[in-house]
Amino acid sequence: MADKINLVDEITGHRRMRRNRKADWTRRLVRETSLSVDDLIWPIFLVPGSGIVEPVAAMPGVNRMSVDKAVEAAREAADLGIPALATFPNEAMELRDVTGSYSLSSDNLINQATRAIKAAVPGIGLITDVALDPFTSHGHDGILRDGEIVNDETVEAIARAAVIQADSGADIIAPSDMMDGRIGAIRRALDAAGHHQVGIMSYATKFASAFYGPYREAINTGGLLKGDKKTYYLDPANGTEAVRDAALDVEEGADMLMVKPGLPYLDICWRIKEAFGLPVFAYQVSGEYTQIKAAAMNGWIDGERAMLETLLCFKRAGCDGILTYFAPEVARILARG
Ligand code: PBG
Repeated sequence: MADKINLVDEITGHRRMRRNRKADWTRRLVRETSLSVDDLIWPIFLVPGSGIVEPVAAMPGVNRMSVDKAVEAAREAADLGIPALATFPNEAMELRDVTGSYSLSSDNLINQATRAIKAAVPGIGLITDVALDPFTSHGHDGILRDGEIVNDETVEAIARAAVIQADSGADIIAPSDMMDGRIGAIRRALDAAGHHQVGIMSYATKFASAFYGPYREAINTGGLLKGDKKTYYLDPANGTEAVRDAALDVEEGADMLMVKPGLPYLDICWRIKEAFGLPVFAYQVSGEYTQIKAAAMNGWIDGERAMLETLLCFKRAGCDGILTYFAPEVARILARG
């Protein structure tokens, strides 16, 4: 037998990374990021009617709610300290058409919910989407003509929809359609209507992703969608193009930027935060939520820990907050300490 070899060299010997990890109290002292209820935006689904709370099959624990129930949810969210809600409507099929014209009705579900929630729970922030997909008969985010999603006409429609949403009381307009020039157009339209205080959270970098599947079930667009959204959403392969797209939105007047989906795109979150310094939000989308829920329901992962870990990782990647279907669940856990 050879003599015992000292495998730990002198330098490693006194540089011990594990000293700071040795106890809960040291780990808490050196922790660089944290998750708080202030980081959460809760996306909710709306349906027509009253007294309705119906589960979304592909998103266990998530419901579609009629406006009266959404008001109750808003009150619950405010009590939990959640700063803001984002609303998404599942409109009746007969109200959907080729141009998504019902997006311009002040009585559509988004606008109804905005008025009702603002009246009952004035302290909670309301973020509304102006994309046309809940209102079109083909499930696309824009106006479809001769097989093409026409950009400028869509931008005009969503800028008008934005003003109607702001008239109804929306605090932040969040366009999720990825049309070119929409941020500038929405800003000009809002200002012309006197809505200087209404902000814009740009879905600046929205990727053509497979992770939106359960959402399309929630608002019933999945079955309608012809083709895909690759002519307007970003290619998941492209990071530099995403930063460039975000730069245009910053120039056009975006107050906040969003990256969507979230977890597979943490590099984009980081690059955009570094590049512009604006508040950056990640949308932990339906498919990301469902992955964690499904695995947890099968007993294959610890769902609560996985949920908290993903949300913390968004913070580490430079995000100021997260749109997440987990919001009320997380808020309850954070409150319990
Ligand atoms: C479309 C829109 C999408 C989502 C919200 N608005 C994507 C899509 O259906 O193409 C996805 C949200 C989610 O998956 O949680 N404007």
